Amino acid sequence: MKKDRYLFVLFLFFLLASSAFSAGLLLFDKSEFAARRQKLMEAIPDGAAIILGALPPTGYNEFFQNNDFMYFSDVEIPNAMLIIDGKQKTTTLFFTISESAARNDGIGLELVRNAKDVTGIERVSPIDQFTAALSRLAGQDYVLYTSFKPEELSRECSSEKFGLLQNAMTFNLWDGRLTRELQFVKNLKDRFPQAVVKDCAPMIWDLRSIKSPAEIDLLRKVGRIGVEAHLAMMKATKVGVPEYEMSAAFDYISKKAGGRDIAYNVIISSAENHPYLHYYKHDRILKDGDFIVVDAGPNYNYYVVDISASYPANGKFTPRQREVYEACQAIQKACRAVYRPGITSRDVQPQVNEILMKRGFDINKDLFKIRTMQVGISHNVGMAVHDVSAGPRGPLKPGMVFACDIYAVFAKEDLGVRVEDTVVITETGCENLTPGLPREIAEIEAFMKKK
Ligand code: GLY
Ligand code: MN
Repeated sequence: MKKDRYLFVLFLFFLLASSAFSAGLLLFDKSEFAARRQKLMEAIPDGAAIILGALPPTGYNEFFQNNDFMYFSDVEIPNAMLIIDGKQKTTTLFFTISESAARNDGIGLELVRNAKDVTGIERVSPIDQFTAALSRLAGQDYVLYTSFKPEELSRECSSEKFGLLQNAMTFNLWDGRLTRELQFVKNLKDRFPQAVVKDCAPMIWDLRSIKSPAEIDLLRKVGRIGVEAHLAMMKATKVGVPEYEMSAAFDYISKKAGGRDIAYNVIISSAENHPYLHYYKHDRILKDGDFIVVDAGPNYNYYVVDISASYPANGKFTPRQREVYEACQAIQKACRAVYRPGITSRDVQPQVNEILMKRGFDINKDLFKIRTMQVGISHNVGMAVHDVSAGPRGPLKPGMVFACDIYAVFAKEDLGVRVEDTVVITETGCENLTPGLPREIAEIEAFMKKK
């Protein structure tokens, strides 16, 4: 009896020790990743999903895992593979890495030695078991699911990358390569001709487009970093300053806060560059009278936000800058007041117009037409800045995170304005994940004066 009790206490001790051991190693609790895998399993009851891990960097760059792999495992080991089995409802993680290579890449040895406990993934196997595992699945009539879309690394957006790679490689007469993923699909079909191979990108993207409370919490933190970095950029802005100093200020604060990268190269448009919404050359020196649009977001722990702000280089709005800015700002505010679950962009538009009219704006002016038609529901935001698929489709749902982006460009006047925040749909409305920038004209002017 005594011995039993002793064994029980010992067992409890090991249980606690093992959870303490793995605590803090993952970005979210193990249960978060298990729930994501579970949802994918439910979507593929007739097969298994094979998720390819990112390859090692070929230059002296830091290794980043691809977003889908990270989403299901939080394992940052190069050349890893994941099989999420929808029939057996288990997951197997495949990797092989020496401890010295892991140490060199900053990969926790706890993860390498004890991946099952650290990740909560049921099975862990060396990578040389991967082929046998695939053969087993194919032999048991599993549908083989894998993403036909390219992996998304830092600063990348899968669907856009697909088009670019196809044009540069597959359709290029002097190249002809498939993307890595489509080559993998071809290899599966060649090797297992009887197997059915299906694209699971849409299923993964459906999951990724609804953020969990833990993800939303993290996005709030990323939002705070983004706002702080934007404020630093605003502080760095004055007549005579090169745009690259502004961009460097954003980079610095994002990295200082622990962000390993930024979401995309900082976009700064001024003067004749306003029509180019992704201008990131940073090659102008700010002049008196310039109006600037800055669009930038940090990447913190694989999550990003998207923020644009607009202000005059000399800190004082002209009447025309004021007119265009006020319109964009009013539309953005009206959109955020209207977003809620169940509403589509078509429903948003008349409600936004009503708010604007009540506030005394003339919505028939050129300044408003396109902007209120688009109602700012721009693109999804999450692990990528243009996150999974183009943007929210159909009615808005709680947990959807997207950019509310209002912009107006008057090329002949060298004027552009952009007011963009990242928002999440809540149960009853929407929350701005990137609050805290001076947005009203009086606030902007006061900030530019004070700094
Ligand atoms: N931040 C890039 C975009 O909004 O397209
Ligand atoms: Mn955007």
